[in-house]
Amino acid sequence: MKKLITIERHFAEEQKLHPQATGELTDLLYDVAFAAKLVRREVVRAGLADILGMAGTTNVQGEEVKKLDLFANEKIINAIGQHGRFALMGSEENEGTIIPPKNENGRYVLLFDPLDGSSNIDVNVSVGTIFSIYRLTGDDPRKADIKDCLQKGSEQVAAGYVIYGSSVMMVYTTGHGVHGFTYDPTIGEFLLSHENITIPARGKYYSINEGSRKQLHDSTLAFIGWLKEEDAETGRPYSTRYIGSLVADFHRNLLTGGVFVYPATKTHRNGKLRLMYEANPLAFICEQAGGRATDGKQRILDIDPSELHQRTPLYIGSRDDVMTAEAFEQGER
Ligand code: AHG
Ligand code: MN
Ligand code: MN
Repeated sequence: MKKLITIERHFAEEQKLHPQATGELTDLLYDVAFAAKLVRREVVRAGLADILGMAGTTNVQGEEVKKLDLFANEKIINAIGQHGRFALMGSEENEGTIIPPKNENGRYVLLFDPLDGSSNIDVNVSVGTIFSIYRLTGDDPRKADIKDCLQKGSEQVAAGYVIYGSSVMMVYTTGHGVHGFTYDPTIGEFLLSHENITIPARGKYYSINEGSRKQLHDSTLAFIGWLKEEDAETGRPYSTRYIGSLVADFHRNLLTGGVFVYPATKTHRNGKLRLMYEANPLAFICEQAGGRATDGKQRILDIDPSELHQRTPLYIGSRDDVMTAEAFEQGER
């Protein structure tokens, strides 16, 4: 019988690898897993509760907000904020930083995308939640401010995502490998199902929205053209897999190999995806699994942030596939 390891037990084991975190890391991650269970409960029955459809508002990104975006956002802020372990939060759905209800003992910052893949909510396609955890730059939570949210991705203490799909999984790293947990609704626990996930150096899938071909730079089109050529030796042509939920496309590529690209285009010079709560957490996970994540030139984790909602081009997934994409983008091929 396979050992049943709950995610909380795993957090406690991970904790021993971080002597300086004095027990808080386990609590932080526990809070996130608990919030994920609350969001899951609604996502899996979204069609029944009155949380489908538009909330009738637009968010700071200028995007139409779905009720489930707001629901997930509120659940995460309240479920996590009540324990006071986070001094500050930043969410895709909130323009400014969020001071949790209790934060006097908080020494960490939580940045998150409460519901990733919003366009897929009403059509029962996998969506996700993405989170990123930093330590405060100072030691007084009352002095926590935006600069604590604008640290390089390489400073992350932990990062992870939840994917609400045919099964619900939570995947996280604290810098000691990537581990996946599958939710068992019969016992209400996330159980270890994918220990030490590693991503193949090359994949067979590529993910990019080719609907925007007209806006793509020639260098990006050249990369896509290369992927489509017939060449058995290099496993080409690759197959297209593009779900429209970053978490779902990333998760598939993480497990089977592949490359996800949301590039700079002629109309969006920094692409669409957000650095702090989409690219950075997934880049931390991807590198921990042996993959690569860049903006076409530099490591995502090395980007020095200037704004909470800043966007970045994103090339993420199998190491060799990302390097091939970069070679095309830099005109070396
Ligand atoms: P969000 O729902 O949090 O705004 O994220 C949506 C993102 C990402 O999940 C997905 O990969 C991408 O938007 C799809 O964008 P396009 O529809 O432009 O391809
Ligand atoms: Mn998103
Ligand atoms: Mn979102």
